[in-house]
Amino acid sequence: MKLTYHGHSCFILQGSKYSIIFDPFLNGNPVAKIKPQDVKVDAILVSHGHADHLGDAVLISKNCNAPIIAPFELVGYCEAKGAKGHAMHIGGSYEFPFGRVKLTIAHHGSTTDTGATGNPCGFIVTMDGKTIYHAGDTGLFYDMKLIGETNNIDAALLPIGDNFTMGISDAIKAVEFLKPKIAVPMHYNTWDLIKQDPKKFAEGLKNTQTKGVIMGVGESIEI
Ligand code: NI
Ligand code: MN
Repeated sequence: MKLTYHGHSCFILQGSKYSIIFDPFLNGNPVAKIKPQDVKVDAILVSHGHADHLGDAVLISKNCNAPIIAPFELVGYCEAKGAKGHAMHIGGSYEFPFGRVKLTIAHHGSTTDTGATGNPCGFIVTMDGKTIYHAGDTGLFYDMKLIGETNNIDAALLPIGDNFTMGISDAIKAVEFLKPKIAVPMHYNTWDLIKQDPKKFAEGLKNTQTKGVIMGVGESIEI
């Protein structure tokens, strides 16, 4: 299965039959190299309502006739703008044609231009026999240990930018809890406020079972 990074917290996961996108912040993202019009996916997973995550989700949903999968309140906001939606909530999972999605907690906010849109979340996606954890925007939380104990995670996508989310040292602690095969840093170097050296994250994992994989924008890996 192919995982492609599009900067900030945006990734496309492409399986044998289906593709999904996480947090499609492309228009207005200073590092993104693709346009939302170029995106062809079967579902859009949005972790919370902040503009740097909701991004172009509504446009992509309309272009692809694909559902936005997100917490209930955020899906309501997107449906009011003409998107297709599939509302879920934290702790719930659902079997979609492309695979299983479970919503996890994330400690953060979720406000849009019209106000709050419920709680933020993270995602555990199982697709083509692989398990991917996209943490969304969050601080470190001890229940990541439970997520690690109850899932055999192939790839963990974790924010390292600090200021709004975990920084590098907390993200390293998160990896110790989650025990994924690989950990990919996200939510850094989009702006100066979240400037980080991802090599410090990868180096910090040297004594763990997890490989730190720094992905360039536009880069793909096989997982
Ligand atoms: Ni946020
Ligand atoms: Mn963010």
